Amino acid sequence: MMAQKLWDKGKATDAEIEKFTVGRDREMDVYLAKYDVLGSMAHIKMLSTIDLIGKDELPLLLAELKNIYKLAEEGEFVIEDGVEDVHSQVELMLTRKLGDLGKKIHSGRSRNDQVLLDMKLYSRDQIKIIAQDTLKLFNILIHQSEEHKNILMPGYTHLQIAMPSSFGLWFGAYAESLADDMEVLLAAWKITNRNPLGSAAGYGSSFPLNRQMTTDLLGFDSMDYNVVYAQMGRGKMEKTVAFAMASIAATISKMAFDACMFTSQNFGFIKLPDECTTGSSIMPHKKNPDVFELTRAKCNKIQTLPQQIMMIMNNLPSGYFRDLQIIKEIFIPSFEELRDCLKMTCHIMSEIKVKEDILDDKKYDYIFSVEEVNRLAKNGMPFRDAYKKVGLDIENGNFVPNKDIHHTHEGSTGNLCNDKISLLMQNTMDSFTFKKVNDAEKKLIDNK
Ligand code: ARG
Repeated sequence: MMAQKLWDKGKATDAEIEKFTVGRDREMDVYLAKYDVLGSMAHIKMLSTIDLIGKDELPLLLAELKNIYKLAEEGEFVIEDGVEDVHSQVELMLTRKLGDLGKKIHSGRSRNDQVLLDMKLYSRDQIKIIAQDTLKLFNILIHQSEEHKNILMPGYTHLQIAMPSSFGLWFGAYAESLADDMEVLLAAWKITNRNPLGSAAGYGSSFPLNRQMTTDLLGFDSMDYNVVYAQMGRGKMEKTVAFAMASIAATISKMAFDACMFTSQNFGFIKLPDECTTGSSIMPHKKNPDVFELTRAKCNKIQTLPQQIMMIMNNLPSGYFRDLQIIKEIFIPSFEELRDCLKMTCHIMSEIKVKEDILDDKKYDYIFSVEEVNRLAKNGMPFRDAYKKVGLDIENGNFVPNKDIHHTHEGSTGNLCNDKISLLMQNTMDSFTFKKVNDAEKKLIDNK
């Protein structure tokens, strides 16, 4: 079938060329349908204030767009065979219902700023979900840290036993890491939450567009002012969000590696309930931590996302290129992957059981060597002499550990500062303008 194209001038496009240039775009654009409609609602409201759409025409268009929005929300929106993309499909549906009126909505706009806008609106929603899921994991980790704050475990450097650590520190470390990741996500949110609409093909329009109006209608913090820069934001926004996702993914995969190692019999620090493990087809005794292994791999894969995006777009000059379309294929599915990992990590980190008497094992005695050196130094012996004495005691087999440790400074075993870490996280969460965005979108859909 010949494609229905917005740019059709009566000449057929080679079917193979068409297949290649559309690629997986229809599949990806279905994710953008809701947002494409929202963008059109804001755009035509603005067009009606500059007399490009009649006051009587506006309600008809808005009502029909709302129907399409509902379809998209219910998962019923389809891009028909032969229709190039979501933008063409929405315009086609409007035209079928409203005739020539449907063809008016594209004034002062290009698919270039339309897809830019769709990606931003879509990403805003996804960032919100990722932020909420990350906060859930954070809360679980803080809870586990508090719950197990007095249970000691060995700390390692070079994977050699080093100094006393605790489960309070271990869980809390990953919570604090997520608090930092949230700062990166907030930066990504800020860059995402600027309106590119009105930049059109990348050079603006001779219509007196009111860009501030669409910015407000869509709940954006501000706009990407310079129209050339607005177009340059395609890929840059995705890369920035990808970095934020990669930060969260890095935290999860590091924790997953620790957890895999700590469940091994050679460590035996943590245990998963049987129903959270998987078995072996040949070794009857096996209870494997596959969940941690898969989250590690998936999260490592997510960490390649910024690089993939950069490789696709890095050597492009300013202005639109079709290359940018390919970013959607790697960017859009990655949200679900990260959300799956966050969800599973929340589940498994709530179920995890820790061993209480790890340090009773004599092989960990030497982790208390620094405690002994410090005790001697506190009693007046110069540090270097104390270090030497304890070293010789160890060499000669005379070292007796004192396991009653007292660490009091901020962030140490005895003073985790989880309240301070929680406050950092809370402050960052409070800086996301989710409510403003929600309210604006709701108002726009309900035409209030
Ligand atoms: N599917 C296209 C993309 O994702 C939409 C924009 C098309 N613009 C164009 N000038 N061909 O980039």
